[in-house]
Amino acid sequence: MPATVDPAFAADVLAGLAASVPAIPARWLYDQRGSELFDQITRLESYYPTRTETALLERVMPDIAARVGPGRAVVEFGAGSLTKTPLLLEAIAPALYVPIDIAGDFLRDAAKALSERIPGLAIHPVEANFAEAMALPGEVGDHPRLGFFPGSTIGNFVPRTATDLLRHFRDILGERALLLIGMDRVKSVERLVAAYDDPERVTAQFNLNLVERINRELDGTIPADGFAHEARWNDMLGRIEMHLVATRDLDFTVAGTQFAFTQGNSIHTENSHKYEPRGGRLLLLAGGWTPIAEWTDAAGDFALILAEAQPNRFAP
Ligand code: AVJ
Repeated sequence: MPATVDPAFAADVLAGLAASVPAIPARWLYDQRGSELFDQITRLESYYPTRTETALLERVMPDIAARVGPGRAVVEFGAGSLTKTPLLLEAIAPALYVPIDIAGDFLRDAAKALSERIPGLAIHPVEANFAEAMALPGEVGDHPRLGFFPGSTIGNFVPRTATDLLRHFRDILGERALLLIGMDRVKSVERLVAAYDDPERVTAQFNLNLVERINRELDGTIPADGFAHEARWNDMLGRIEMHLVATRDLDFTVAGTQFAFTQGNSIHTENSHKYEPRGGRLLLLAGGWTPIAEWTDAAGDFALILAEAQPNRFAP
């Protein structure tokens, strides 16, 4: 195996391929190539979330700024996209900005570009997995906190782990903190599937990049045309699922371990949960956050919710 392989990647792939319902955690889709492909996805005609959320943020920012006020420590979970984050930071006059991301190079590039765009902004990047325990930089001090979690990234998590994550954010940010979160809404199956199975086939390349990554980093022998991209709407669970479906019966090895797939069987590679208004707010409540304002675009395709950390008390 190449020396640079992340042992956690090997462990997840070997366990995921051997599982009775084969599945690999979605975060392994985002290597260098995967992140580039995702960036292309955000500009596709059929992929509405990014442009919808960006336009919504732009439109409602005066209202958000009035509710959030100046002088906050803004903590972003995942490094900021340079189209969305500056809209927030330029509008609210924060005390400092703390982007948290596991990809250190990406994080440093984003911080550099942001400091050029907003001179004078205090930026304190933290290289960490935002789902794991971490300490905020000392500079955060007693500044009131605002968590920022755009992009409907929460949709990648099943409700059980999504509530764990929201509770974790509440623990990190503390009482009296605010959270501004983006959530994609349920809409017609045709539009949902088109957003994850674009005619340009970029999402297919994004999904199939995982096969290439396994072959490259884990000495895999999966034939290039052995799996095909599929996006399915799971109505019971309210989510789009990405799968890699075996195009024929397959035998291959990964890191020396033998695997067999029957034609039509799949590897589940990503979930993207979509929320109705009350379901989205209930998720936040279950995760320790009380919604205080919600905004959507005119078509109701995407929502931004501002929520407040629930105080530690029992009743009512
Ligand atoms: C980055 C998780 C928000 O689920 O819409 C887009 C990822 N995957 N197309 C999403 C994704 C395929 C995206 N998130």
